[in-house]
Amino acid sequence: MFFENSTRTLSSFEMAIKNLGGKVIKLDTYKSSMSKGESIEDTAININSMKIDGLIIRHKYSGILQHLAKYITCPMINAGDGLNAHPTQALLDAMTIKLHFDNKKQTMKGKKIAIIGDIINSRVASSGIDLFNKLEMEVILVSPPHFQTVSNKIKKVTFIEDIIDEVDVIMCLRTQIERHNNQIYASLKDYASKYCITKELIKDKDIIILHPGPVNRNIDIEVSLLEDKRCKILSQVLSGVYIRMSVLNKFINKS
Ligand code: CP
Repeated sequence: MFFENSTRTLSSFEMAIKNLGGKVIKLDTYKSSMSKGESIEDTAININSMKIDGLIIRHKYSGILQHLAKYITCPMINAGDGLNAHPTQALLDAMTIKLHFDNKKQTMKGKKIAIIGDIINSRVASSGIDLFNKLEMEVILVSPPHFQTVSNKIKKVTFIEDIIDEVDVIMCLRTQIERHNNQIYASLKDYASKYCITKELIKDKDIIILHPGPVNRNIDIEVSLLEDKRCKILSQVLSGVYIRMSVLNKFINKS
């Protein structure tokens, strides 16, 4: 049940389920009986009563899975809830990073990752920070002060130039204008003038670039870098299928 739009997460979960021999019911939430006033709780109770083996949920509200857990009996997988978490995204990001360093016969442990952009509004960042810390990477958060998290435990800087020579991985984030209460920039070009990742910035550095998608071209990343072999965005998308197969196997496909 995806109550927010999705390209990568929805499609890769569907592919993962089909790769594992499963069947998918995709509730078209825009055409569901919620438009007639049915609550999300009743919607979930009804879908659950069809003896489904698991429920994959994306919703704009943080904590929606914990709330629905009171009403349904099958396992639930978080496909992104509000600002809270996007766990399978963090796993696919970590897999992409691991594959890169495996190829170089190195370990990701101790490597430095800069997460750049709208950190406070990003569930990708919050899940990523948790997982990269668990995997003993060093996380540095790069953003203008109004996009910065309040956590004191993580190194934070305002300018990319301050850390670009020391990091191994850059993860750019989309500026989540749909989650801003007020318009922050007159134009995203103002934001991009300081935070867009450009060829000029990364030069020939031994660095990889990640982005969860969707990309705002020339705002988050310069278009020419999307073709650069250091840009791992499409590898992330492929990792997403394998990670989601693995998550489904662990939590749902127990036979
Ligand atoms: N990364 C991500 O969650 O993309 P979608 O919103 O397209 O699923």
